[in-house]
Amino acid sequence: MRQHKLALCAMHFPQWMVEQTQRFIEKYRMFTPDDRVLVAVSGGKDSLSLWDILWQLGYNVDGVYIALGIDGGFGYSQKSQALCEKFADQRGLKLMVIDAPQQIGVTIPELAKVTQRGKNKPCSVCGLTKRHLLDRVALERKYDVLATGHNLDDEAAVLFGNTLNWHIGYLHRQSPVLPARHAGLVRKVKPLCRFYEREMAAYALVRGIEYIYEECPHAEGSTTIYYKSLLNQLEADRPGAKLSFYLSFLQAKQRGLFAQPQEGEEGVGAGGERLYTCPSCGGPTTVEGLCAFCRMVEKVK
Ligand code: AMP
Ligand code: FES
Ligand code: ZN
Repeated sequence: MRQHKLALCAMHFPQWMVEQTQRFIEKYRMFTPDDRVLVAVSGGKDSLSLWDILWQLGYNVDGVYIALGIDGGFGYSQKSQALCEKFADQRGLKLMVIDAPQQIGVTIPELAKVTQRGKNKPCSVCGLTKRHLLDRVALERKYDVLATGHNLDDEAAVLFGNTLNWHIGYLHRQSPVLPARHAGLVRKVKPLCRFYEREMAAYALVRGIEYIYEECPHAEGSTTIYYKSLLNQLEADRPGAKLSFYLSFLQAKQRGLFAQPQEGEEGVGAGGERLYTCPSCGGPTTVEGLCAFCRMVEKVK
C-alpha cells in the first residue's frame, strides 16, 4: 500500500483491514455492539467483505439484498443474489431478499422505460428504488443502522463530481455517517470509506470470498466510472492523492465548511431544507405530497 508505505503478508493484511475498520467505526461513531446493524449486500466484493469484517468483529449484523431483475445477458441480478445467499449460508448468517419487481410491479429496466420513455439509463430510478426499499426494510425490521459497502474510490469519485459542479447540498451531506433526519429514515454508515478499491479486492481474494466480478450492465460509460479513471491517473503519479482528497474534505467540513445552522436536526434536509412526510409510505420528501418513489410507482400503475 504505497499511500501508507506499508506492505503486509496474506495473514496480516486481512487482520489489519479488520482492525482499521473497527477504528473507523469508533472514530466516526457509526455504531456500537448494542446496535442492530443491517448490511446492504449487492454480491460485489465491497459489501460482502464488509459483512465478513463486521461478522468477524462480533457485531450483531444481518444482510439484505435487493433483487432488481437486471439480466444484461448473463443473469446479473440472479447471479449476485446466489452469491449473497452462498456467503450467508456458509457462515450461518441471516440474509433478507427484497424483490423489487414485486414491490413496484415491474423490473428496473422496465421501470426506466415506463417513467423516462427509455431515454435515460435505468441507474437513477434504480438508485431511488434501492434507497427507498433499504430504508423501509431497515425501519420496519427495527435496525438501528444501515451499512453500505462504499469504498474510498466511490467516495472520492462522488466528491470529485460534486466539487466540479459545486453541489453544496450534496457536499454538505457526503459523510461516513448520515444521521436519520426524519422518522422514515435510519442512520446510514459507510465503514469502508477509507479503503481503496484495490485493498477491498485484495481482502476478498485473501479471504476467499466469492463475489460477482461483472459490474451492473447499465454502469458502462457512466460518469462515475470516468471520474474514477481520472482519479486513478492522479493516484498513479501521486500515491495517496485520493485518500488525501477525501480526508482533507472531511476535515474542512469539520471546521465548518458547508455548515448549515440546522445541521443534523430532525425534519431538516441535507441542504437545510424542510422535510415533509409522504402520505403514502411515511418516508421523507422535500416537497409536500407524495415522495419521488411513490410518484414513480403511481406512474407505473
Ligand atoms: P453501488 O451503488 O452499486 O456502487 O453500491 C453501493 C453500495 O450499495 C454497495 O456496496 C451495497 O452496500 C449497496 N447495494 C448496491 N446494490 C445493492 C443491492 N442490489 N441490494 C442491496 N444493497 C445494494
Ligand atoms: Fe441499478 Fe445498475 S445497479 S441500474
Ligand atoms: Zn412515499
